[in-house]
Amino acid sequence: MSDFARRVVDWQRAHGRNDLPWQGTRDPYAVWLSEVMLQQTQVATVVPYYRRFRARFPDLASLAAADEDDVLRLWSGLGYYARARNLHRAAQAIVAEHGGAFPRDLAQIAALPGIGRSTAAAIAGFAFGARAAILDGNVKRLLARHFAVEGHPGERAVEQRLWRLAESLLPADDIAPYIQGLMDLGATVCTTRAPQCERCPVRETCTALARHRVGELPAPRPRRAVPHRRTAMLVLRSDGDVLLEKRPAAGVWRGLWCFPELGAGDDPARVARRRYGCEVALVERLGVLRHAFTHFTLDIEPVVARVRRRAPRAAEPGVLWLPFAQAAGAAVPTPVRKLVRALGGRSAAADQPALFEELVEDLQAR
Ligand code: ADE
Repeated sequence: MSDFARRVVDWQRAHGRNDLPWQGTRDPYAVWLSEVMLQQTQVATVVPYYRRFRARFPDLASLAAADEDDVLRLWSGLGYYARARNLHRAAQAIVAEHGGAFPRDLAQIAALPGIGRSTAAAIAGFAFGARAAILDGNVKRLLARHFAVEGHPGERAVEQRLWRLAESLLPADDIAPYIQGLMDLGATVCTTRAPQCERCPVRETCTALARHRVGELPAPRPRRAVPHRRTAMLVLRSDGDVLLEKRPAAGVWRGLWCFPELGAGDDPARVARRRYGCEVALVERLGVLRHAFTHFTLDIEPVVARVRRRAPRAAEPGVLWLPFAQAAGAAVPTPVRKLVRALGGRSAAADQPALFEELVEDLQAR
């Protein structure tokens, strides 16, 4: 084993994370679920979601048989919902194409929806002891520093160089503690800001540290402005209920439950009557809620309408009246949940426009 790998493995065993709820098992379902949840999300955030998900879907068969709505509801708040949809589709593909047994072959794992090269390697390594390199964002940073790799790791040539390095460093055995060690080091020691080099097991061979370049490597993404979009959401409230509508199968938040969107120039009272059969009394426009996506920023203007009369006719499919408490726990995106909580939790205050402004400012400050 190379000196680098030896030090990473020894450090992992002594100082790494070894008691997380998905560790201590080789069950590929547990490993797969945790690796998907951990994509772009920190361990501390993932733990409660992982426990709830396992309690509801204890194995692959139960997930494959689930309703997509139930899967999304359990994912609600973790973000990057494509992960949940892909997880569900992958479970169904494993049942249909692999007889319900998680595939062991790296190429077959990587062919499943939502599993890239690094995640496939991590699953195969943890569940089956397969010897394949991982390279998530944390590991890219660690290798870029240790070997002083120039350029932004998102660039193809830089990424290819990092993959070659990652492969060349793989030990012959102890794969699981090695890859876990890389992940743990990247997440807790070789961090983006304020790395703790004094605690690092490979500091003696780290090129960036020797050249005082830890703060400069890896090179940041060349800056590009993120576009802003704006939308208005119609919040229809009736007694203790709020109206939610299922988002279409394409676009932002697809499949999640959301407040209806208002087009520019739409009259909220007219939309409420025509589309939802509601006569509204008071209409209030609140301050803007900002939500950051990876590729754009969405400014949401909530338009809150108090319903005087609700149509007696049966609800349309894809439209639901839910009590506030239930709406906050439904498969809704984060800004919708924040609004539901703010409006439902303080319904007396929410009747007063001045306090509305405070609520929204409070939300924006978080
Ligand atoms: N990030 C991705 N996979 C991880 C794991 N197994 N442990 C900690 N962080 C991770």
